[in-house]
Amino acid sequence: MSYNLLKGKRGIIFGALDENSIAWKTAERVHEEGGTFVLTNAPIAMRMGSINKLAEKTGSKIIPADATSVEDLEKLVAGAVEELGGKLDFVLHSIGMSINVRKGRHYTDQNYDWTQKGTDVSAMSFHKTMQVLYKHDAMNEWGSIVALTYMAAQRVFPDYNDMADNKAYLESIARSFGYFFGRDKKVRVNTISQSPTPTTAGQGVKGFDGFIAYAEKMSPLGNATAQECADYTITLFSDLTKKVTLQNLFHDGGFSNMGVSNEVMEAFVNEQK
Ligand SMILES: NC(=O)c1ccc[n+]([C@@H]2O[C@H](COP(=O)([O-])OP(=O)(O)OC[C@H]3O[C@@H](n4cnc5c(N)ncnc54)[C@H](O)[C@@H]3O)[C@@H](O)[C@H]2O)c1
Repeated sequence: MSYNLLKGKRGIIFGALDENSIAWKTAERVHEEGGTFVLTNAPIAMRMGSINKLAEKTGSKIIPADATSVEDLEKLVAGAVEELGGKLDFVLHSIGMSINVRKGRHYTDQNYDWTQKGTDVSAMSFHKTMQVLYKHDAMNEWGSIVALTYMAAQRVFPDYNDMADNKAYLESIARSFGYFFGRDKKVRVNTISQSPTPTTAGQGVKGFDGFIAYAEKMSPLGNATAQECADYTITLFSDLTKKVTLQNLFHDGGFSNMGVSNEVMEAFVNEQK
C-alpha cells in the first residue's frame, strides 16, 4: 500500500546490491511513496550489474562511490543535488563489510589491516558521508539520515566478530553527529537495529542459519524481514517522525527485550531428555 509519504522528497540510497538487500527493498518503497533518489554503491559492486534493474524500475540515476573515499562522496553528493534538482531530504546508509568475517578469521586472531578496512567501510563511512553532507549544506531542514545496525553492538554474538565493534562505533557516530546535525541544520540522525536478515552480508556471518532460527523463536512477533525494514525506514524519512533523533531503534519483533521465550525453553528442555 502507498501513502504518498515521501512525495517531493529527494535522497541518496547506499547499498543496494541485489534483490535481497535491505537498501533494494527500501528503494522500491521510497519510489512507491513518491520519493526520488540517486542510487549508489561501491564501483566493484556495480560490476555485478543488478543495480541497473533497480535504477530502471525506480527511474533513478546511479552514481558509483566507494563510501570510504571522501572524494567519491563529494562527487556523489554534488551529483545527487544536481540530478534531483535541489537539496536532499533523506539518506540511507546500508553498508557493512568485514574481511575478518569473510575470510573466517576468528575474533581472537584478527588481521588488523582487515579490521581497519572493515571499520572504515562499516562505520567511519557513515561519519564521512555526514561530514560531506554537513559541510556542503546538502540536507534540507527536517531531513532524515538513517543507518542500519545490529544488536551485537550491545550484546555478545560471538560469530559476528569485529562487525560488533563496527556497529557500536556506527551507533555512536549517529548520536555524536546527530547532535550537530540537529542543532545546526534541523536534520535527524538515527540507526535501525534490524533482525538477522537473509542477504549477502547477513549470510556471510558464520552460523547464520542457527542465528536467524534462534532469533525467530525468541521474538514474540518473529524476525522482521527486509521488506518490513523498508516499511519502517520510510516512516523515518517521512514528516511523521520529525522529532525522533539520536536514537538506536530496534526493529526486531521484540527480540532485544526478551530474556527467554517458551519456544526456546522447550527446545532446550527437549534436548536434555
Ligand atoms: N542482513 C542482516 O542480518 C542485517 C541485520 C542487521 C543489520 N544489517 C545491516 O544492514 C545493512 C545492509 O546490509 P544487507 O543485509 O542489506 O546486505 P547487502 O550485502 O545486500 O548490503 C551491504 C552493502 O554494502 C555495500 N558496500 C560494501 N563496501 C562498500 C563500500 N566500500 N562503499 C559502498 N558500499 C559498500 C555492498 O556493496 C552492499 O551493497 C548493513 O549495514 C548490515 O550490517 C544487516
